[in-house]
Amino acid sequence: MAGLSSSEVDEVLDLLMSLADHDITIIMIEHIMQAVMRFSDRVMCLDAARSSRSAHRPKSWLTSACRRPILALSLAINNLDAGYGAVKALRGVTLNVEAGETVALLGTNGNGKSTLMKCVAGLVRPQRGSMSLTIDGMAHDLTRLSAEAIVDLGVALVPEGRRLFPKLTVLENLMLGAFRKAARRNIDRNLALAFETFPALKGLQSQLAGTMSGGQQQMLAIARALMSSPRLLLIDEPSVGLSPLLVSQTIAKIGELNQHLGLTVLMAEQNFNQAIRIADRGYIIVHGEIVVAASSVDELRGNDIVKRLYLGGVA
Ligand SMILES: Nc1ncnc2c1ncn2[C@@H]1O[C@H](COP(=O)(O)OP(=O)(O)OP(=O)(O)O)[C@@H](O)[C@H]1O
Ligand SMILES: [Mg+2]
Repeated sequence: MAGLSSSEVDEVLDLLMSLADHDITIIMIEHIMQAVMRFSDRVMCLDAARSSRSAHRPKSWLTSACRRPILALSLAINNLDAGYGAVKALRGVTLNVEAGETVALLGTNGNGKSTLMKCVAGLVRPQRGSMSLTIDGMAHDLTRLSAEAIVDLGVALVPEGRRLFPKLTVLENLMLGAFRKAARRNIDRNLALAFETFPALKGLQSQLAGTMSGGQQQMLAIARALMSSPRLLLIDEPSVGLSPLLVSQTIAKIGELNQHLGLTVLMAEQNFNQAIRIADRGYIIVHGEIVVAASSVDELRGNDIVKRLYLGGVA
């Protein structure tokens, strides 16, 4: 990777990953740690021409379907207003997400969580304010980009209520997640990743999505998002309509996507206790305004507004 720009590193890694997918063994001499960690199954460190250390990847999970490396990514939303006609859904929202973080956007019904997610995904146009996604040092103004262009940047939305195509099969729904040209190039790899992440879906490929259980449908909705090679996953209320056990499993799976695939996650949730299991920090949105911006889960737990809204306390 010597002398390559970060986007060229990306391209070379994509190429190497597709070679690895064809069972070609690769020995790579490299010191860009992001590339090494995301690509290699096993790492050997040389010290003055001696092998000083040798280690397997700490987790073998998903090694055959590594993602694009995230050299840097950040989402910065400033002073955002959005609404629907006379309805003001967001008022002066400021929020940011850094590479590798899981950030929770907490709020009860009708407070603007989905509107914010849709703004980031380019599905609702904000009336005021800025939204910028910086990838490998290059800033992209999300307020000017189409929803398709935002998908191409690596932003995938798992929408509220899953929004699957009930009369299409699991496989057809997954393929629709890869409808963009850039995603089609990696379709085999991403399909392998989707099934590796959710093994239960593999045996259900020809089942109609509408006939599946709520938990299976949520798996499919997340798997469909993985088909577009995301770097930033926007997940809108993954726990809605699921039994407590399935909520817990779904939240744990989102945590794994962050930990093992390095996906950056912005998750809208009403279920405070479940969301903070995997969140690094969080925001509380009330009537379209961010009323709490906590820099850690402990800070969230100790906040008076949080105690009043979620923990049954009196603030
Ligand atoms: N398509 C729409 N047309 C008009 N008003 C809308 C529309 N979508 C949402 N709203 C209104 O915007 C406000 C914010 O709604 P939003 O769906 O963003 O909240 P939410 O926090 O996601 O709620 P929920 O937890 O119920 O999903 C609410 O007052 C809602 O009624
Ligand atoms: Mg919503």
